[in-house]
Amino acid sequence: MLLLLCIVVLPAVLLLVLSSKQHGECYVGGRPLPPGPPWPRLPLLGNLLYRCPTTASLVDALRRLHADYGPVVTLWTGGKPAIFIAGRDAAHRTLARDGATFAHRPPSWSFGFNAHGVNSAQYGGRWSLLRRNISSHLAGAPLAGALQYSVGKLVSSLECAAAAAKNHVVVPSEMLRHAVVSFFASLCFGEGVEEDVLRQLRGVHAEILSLVVELGAFHLMPALLEVACYFPRCRKLSNVQKRHRATVMTLISARQQRDSDGVGSGRRRCYVDTLLELRLGDEEMVSLCWEFMNAAAKITSTALEWIMARLVLHQDIQRKLQKDIRGGEVDGNCTADGERRSPFLDAVVLEALRRHPPAHYLLAHTTDKDVYLDGYVIPKGSVVNYGVADIGRDATSWTNPVEFLPERFLEGGEGYGVSVTAGSGSGEESMKMMPFGSGRRACPGATVALTVLKSFVEKLVTRFEWTPVGAVDMEEKPGLVTEMRTPLRTCLVVRPHVQPTN
Ligand code: HEM
Repeated sequence: MLLLLCIVVLPAVLLLVLSSKQHGECYVGGRPLPPGPPWPRLPLLGNLLYRCPTTASLVDALRRLHADYGPVVTLWTGGKPAIFIAGRDAAHRTLARDGATFAHRPPSWSFGFNAHGVNSAQYGGRWSLLRRNISSHLAGAPLAGALQYSVGKLVSSLECAAAAAKNHVVVPSEMLRHAVVSFFASLCFGEGVEEDVLRQLRGVHAEILSLVVELGAFHLMPALLEVACYFPRCRKLSNVQKRHRATVMTLISARQQRDSDGVGSGRRRCYVDTLLELRLGDEEMVSLCWEFMNAAAKITSTALEWIMARLVLHQDIQRKLQKDIRGGEVDGNCTADGERRSPFLDAVVLEALRRHPPAHYLLAHTTDKDVYLDGYVIPKGSVVNYGVADIGRDATSWTNPVEFLPERFLEGGEGYGVSVTAGSGSGEESMKMMPFGSGRRACPGATVALTVLKSFVEKLVTRFEWTPVGAVDMEEKPGLVTEMRTPLRTCLVVRPHVQPTN
């Protein structure tokens, strides 16, 4: 009995006493931290984790907390404040106007799989080198050939699946994902990655992702607890990482081999070529390839599925889009590069990214000094995160924000000219959405992602009629990437004016 008292009751009382002292407002340099709930703060644990143990519960809690306390709130992860910003004004002031201060990332445990990525690099020389490298590779990458190939393969597999299915009903998610992965694999490893290697790569990616502790990836877990969570997964993680490393190194070696054989002269450069030129170590290259494939493929294919789901749900928008694209074909309404121009296609993609941003939160940011914001302090070293979905659905920025209305992005609409990355030069007026983040850490793949989405959607809508099968479930499955809770199911019929592929 005495033992029970010592082991359970005394520590519990001690915790309560300690936590009760932390209920009040917290001050740094005489200024209070942004407001937060009066949840007791437990030593070592803070108050975030025991109230919101999953990403889904955190999303729910944050929605309520922002409604009660305003656009900037504080929770505690261990002894560290976690500040959540869901207002465009505060987001603009921190990410764009005070960009250098908020361009830092909290130190990461990473457990090997993301140790050397651009996203995890500390703000400084190495980050800037790697960021310039990926940005210039993406800016100069010839996309047309790889896009045509991946979209073509996707159309053929959808045609086969629809022809084989009862009443042409298909669940296209897996095929959409595979096509997007295949496109980014050619950008990363060069053209001609074999189908079985691609499937192997996707398999190990999925295995690694299934072992990731989500709140840890957002830096919302006290370090000790994160280590404790990863401990039982260590062996599995290390096994799958070895297989991932072996697959990626084979692809890298093949590329090197082609170089030394002189086979590759005149070929298109891929991301791996740029990494080899930087003379990085194997671990760094594997990590950067993991980041490229994951940052790019999973999130872009998720965005694509949301767009197609919207087009299935809103048949009128699909018809209008199809007409607009065909109108462009007939009028020869082209850009200087020969690309067809369909303002409505741009509008549909932007509206989907506003309404269904695949990343509801940015990657965690931190600051290198105390920052004062609206009478509050954001202490140096806090974890700072941003509610991307909240900003895009803010009723003070958008009329009927939950409605799907692509027209708002057409000339004269409230979204016309809005920048998706709201760079440092623009005012907070323009920061009405930030699906790709904003400021110095904004996604370097935004332009490529938009091109990919438009090319895929254009082809899929001109080739097929997408009609609903029962109700389309638009519920979200919160996570590092917010996917559809129920994968899209649709009836696919080849449009009458279209010639079938061979
Ligand atoms: C629809 C597609 C995409 C969306 C919605 C998206 C969104 C984002 C977001 C929200 C961030 C975090 C920004 C921050 O922390 O402030 C990010 C970072 C990043 N993204 Fe993307 N992304 C997409 C596609 C891509 C593509 C295609 C690539 C590369 C091929 C890419 C590479 C990266 C990298 C390397 C970072 C880290 C940047 C840094 O820390 O400096 N993303 N992205």
